[in-house]
Amino acid sequence: MKVYVIDDDRSIRTSLKEILEDEDFVVEQFATGKSAVKALEKERPALILLDLWLGKEDGLEVLDEIRRMYPALPVLMISGHGTIEQAVAATKKGAVDFLEKPLSIQSILDKIHAVLHVEPNVAKKKEVQLDFDEIIGDSEQILRVKQAIAQAARTNARVFIFGENGTGKELVARAIFRNSSRSDKPFVDLNCAAIPAELIESELFGHEKGAFTGAADRRIGKFEQADEGTLFLDEICDMAMTMQAKVLRVLEEQRFQRVGGNESISVDVRVIAATNIDPQQAIRDGRFREDLYYRLNVIPINMPALRERMGDIPLLLDHFLRQAVKANGLPAKVFTPGAIDLLARYEWPGNVRELKNVVERLAILSEGEQIDVNQVADSLFRPDQDDQFPGLDLRSARRDFEKKYIMQALKQFEKNISRTARFLGMERTHLHRKLKTLKINLDEL
Ligand SMILES: Nc1ncnc2c1ncn2[C@@H]1O[C@H](COP(=O)(O)OP(=O)(O)OP(=O)(O)O)[C@@H](O)[C@H]1O
Ligand SMILES: [Mg+2]
Repeated sequence: MKVYVIDDDRSIRTSLKEILEDEDFVVEQFATGKSAVKALEKERPALILLDLWLGKEDGLEVLDEIRRMYPALPVLMISGHGTIEQAVAATKKGAVDFLEKPLSIQSILDKIHAVLHVEPNVAKKKEVQLDFDEIIGDSEQILRVKQAIAQAARTNARVFIFGENGTGKELVARAIFRNSSRSDKPFVDLNCAAIPAELIESELFGHEKGAFTGAADRRIGKFEQADEGTLFLDEICDMAMTMQAKVLRVLEEQRFQRVGGNESISVDVRVIAATNIDPQQAIRDGRFREDLYYRLNVIPINMPALRERMGDIPLLLDHFLRQAVKANGLPAKVFTPGAIDLLARYEWPGNVRELKNVVERLAILSEGEQIDVNQVADSLFRPDQDDQFPGLDLRSARRDFEKKYIMQALKQFEKNISRTARFLGMERTHLHRKLKTLKINLDEL
């Protein structure tokens, strides 16, 4: 069965093509409504996927034209950001339904199969064997992430990974790469937050010899290194706005020039981006381009915070303890049930990375074969070790300790009063009073 895809965004077109070809559809792609309408003079596909926003053209007008000439031909609209109202209008004009961007592969397939009354290609899906070894967890949240990885790995679509620090964003980016058809090509990563604004252009696009002071040789940038492969743009929301505009252009055209050069270089790069801040907020704050966000956000993956999947903690503890013991040539160790209980209740503001560090530290510092609750408590909330409370009477020493302990907990929970209070086992109001009496100023933490 033939399907037409009409979208001005090449990455959306190719992603849809890959997804649909996997389902044994024959796909014809068009960047403009005009070219598709022309092709319709010669043949009729079973279905048309039509973007509402076609750059210069208006998808609704293209829809009108197709409806007028071929009223029996089903048209499924693709609705971008903020165009839901138009999508609804399109269904009133005779579109069979609409798909919302970011596109979810499952809903694309569901809707297409519903419109065409054909069964999904189940047999094929079973063949895919994925390698998830490193991603520990069997919570529903992690299973959803694995599912998203599997879907993303089947295509070359752009992926945007969201999640707090240490939730495993990079791990997921690498898993997508490893399981994709590009796994034998390069995986190149760039931490956009770590590169000074004035160097990032040359990092990404490279430069010609003599392009600027210090450019002694030609240098190949990340986009070129990643040709035919995958480029991981980490902490993308921290990229300077002027660079964001340039990256957007490369995503649209898949071509660029090295700094100081005038040769136009074409590349075929799959981009995976990640951020640990809320991109919508960054857009509102005027430091992240909305159009770049929508270009990148073809397949979104949300990484759950560890506190939202506490059930995975015992598995992670076990995994990292074995790893640490092996890496350091230590005798086998276990956590006592009390220790596991405390670790499984802690809220892990630093997520899996923090848990991994704590386990490593405990594995190395603990002497016996058991790691008990006291060692764990010590490691989670250790007041500065070089404090000796010199010359303090018991009352002042206790107060001093209390202050440090609470300040430490506040830091761990990023000054969130409710979470800190819950961890300390006290009422919020009580904690507020404590802050006052102990003269703890949140702004100074
Ligand atoms: N589900 C998991 N199973 C096993 N290890 C994990 C898991 N999630 C994260 N890790 C490990 O935790 C550490 C942090 O993960 P990663 O670097 O992918 O996080 P991140 O989200 O990119 O963090 P940041 O925002 O700080 O860059 C890594 O050592 C990674 O291997
Ligand atoms: Mg990271």
